[in-house]
Amino acid sequence: MKKSLKELYKGSNVPVIRTILGSLFYVAGTLVIATQADSMAELSVGNFDSIKRIFVYALMCVLGYFCMYLSIIADLGFVDLANGIRKIVWKKTMNLPYRYFDREGPNHVISRITSDPEYSYQPFKLLQMSCTLIAFLLMVFVSDAAVYELAFVLVLGFVITMVLMFVAAKYSERGATYTTAKLAELTAFLAERFNRMRFIKAMNSEEKETDEAFEYIDRKYEADKYNAMALTMAQFGQSFITFILFVAAFLFGAFMIKNGSLKSTTSLAIFYAYGGNLALIFRFFAQFPTVFAATKGGSGKLISILREHEEILDDGRIEAGVQGDISLSNISFKYEDRKVLDGVSLRIPKGKVTTIVGPNGSGKSTVLKVIDRIYGDFYGNLFMGEEDSRNVPLKDWREKFGVVGQNAAMFEGSIKDNILYGAIETGPEELNAVIKLVGLEKIIDKHGEGLEFNVGPNGEKLSGGEQQRIAIARAMLKNPEYLILDEATANLDSVTEKEIKNSIMALMKGRTSIVVTHSYEMAKESDYLIVMKDGRVEDQGEPGEVLMRNEFYRDFANAYNKQEGSICF
Ligand SMILES: Nc1ncnc2c1ncn2[C@@H]1O[C@H](COP(=O)(O)OP(=O)(O)OP(=O)(O)O)[C@@H](O)[C@H]1O
Ligand SMILES: [Mg+2]
Repeated sequence: MKKSLKELYKGSNVPVIRTILGSLFYVAGTLVIATQADSMAELSVGNFDSIKRIFVYALMCVLGYFCMYLSIIADLGFVDLANGIRKIVWKKTMNLPYRYFDREGPNHVISRITSDPEYSYQPFKLLQMSCTLIAFLLMVFVSDAAVYELAFVLVLGFVITMVLMFVAAKYSERGATYTTAKLAELTAFLAERFNRMRFIKAMNSEEKETDEAFEYIDRKYEADKYNAMALTMAQFGQSFITFILFVAAFLFGAFMIKNGSLKSTTSLAIFYAYGGNLALIFRFFAQFPTVFAATKGGSGKLISILREHEEILDDGRIEAGVQGDISLSNISFKYEDRKVLDGVSLRIPKGKVTTIVGPNGSGKSTVLKVIDRIYGDFYGNLFMGEEDSRNVPLKDWREKFGVVGQNAAMFEGSIKDNILYGAIETGPEELNAVIKLVGLEKIIDKHGEGLEFNVGPNGEKLSGGEQQRIAIARAMLKNPEYLILDEATANLDSVTEKEIKNSIMALMKGRTSIVVTHSYEMAKESDYLIVMKDGRVEDQGEPGEVLMRNEFYRDFANAYNKQEGSICF
């Protein structure tokens, strides 16, 4: 546990000093108010003779409460810690391999950043209580309040509570783990559904989705119920014992005043403050095992994400300008346990346009993800020129590639921000030239705000074609050595496709381009063609040659010719 907490707090602003200071302010505030017990006693029986007494009383009360208010320093420290941990976890997720998101499901990771960090500061709450307790003990022992008798009762109560709590702790840990897991599932479900509202409405699936969401909500409810029962069991034990301790403190106080061991009203006030506060602190202490268990349960997933291996983007090696053909030599690749690339060997000639065709699921997109090293855990070798990819830092490698996929990655923000995403130092002239090349001017003029028009979440305020043009413009600004197009025109109508094709041609000109397409027209115009089937390369060569010998490609061509001019098949 200690080691895990160390991992959790590594790099965070741990609020030890702030917690101690906050606790001291709280105790000081209580003490300042307790010193006014004599004045309060006088004032409460209507003795207003001394203006000075009233003034001092009022002043000290204000001072006391102000000091107590300053204990907020500790609470601010707690939220600061959670804030720091959120940033650390976000940074971590940014550096995790793409595999991680495949495995966990992207939406499940959301809770690691939203709710889980709240558990991180519970141990500091314990520190806060420990400091408050120590400060109270010191305060009482330097005053003349008789406390030894009381201490015996309190300690006895404390021991009983601790035993109770150790039992409750087991259930609390389970409860916290259970409830965080169900919250993560619910968050993931909702995030996915809110992103698919258009589809849900079109499919009339509101009712189905309502029922399904209810199942997730109910599962969270079951977890919360379990958690609530565990917590209530713990709290009941604590409350009951707090009550006993509280009553004990007051009875002892009254008894001691009566037999003369407590003399002044101030001593009595301190005694009560001690008794009352101590009971509350013991109550919190009794939560020690529960809080630790809940922290362990709640932060378990956080710690495990922090333990994940990161991608090393820049390993310090200097990339010595590698270039040339891209070749894959006997590459095999698995998703989970399923092999989807099986001994793939192929060549992407430099400066040429290479097309990859093949049936759905044959592994085309996966090959692309291996080529730009989105996945690094493949078997076999990937070369750029003569250089094995493992000798080239990942950041430099990816820098050389530009990708336009079937769905453009759009973020909420202006058209301009979306075009400039990832671009370094782009002047307005360059930006305007690119906008013209991809035919975006008309669309930009259509919206009053021009380039500042907000495209909405996932770019949903733009059409598929408009989004695609933005993706192409991005790739143009990046000016990559190698261009990857994965069904980049699949979302477009034939007129738009023809228009965009010109932009794509401009983008591909003189550039090594790898195009995955279901368009025969594109395939036949390419310099080099690769046919994939069931995770293997079935054929490769010049399109004319492949047409003579490969059955799939021949059927591909025939289907196109039969449709007389229809671009896709
Ligand atoms: N993240 C993933 N996890 C598990 N399996 C996956 C994942 N991505 C793809 N697959 C599987 O790998 C196989 C190859 O997928 P891939 O996307 O490479 O096919 P493709 O040739 O691009 O197909 P399409 O023409 O439909 O785009 C498919 O059977 C698919 O189900
Ligand atoms: Mg694909």
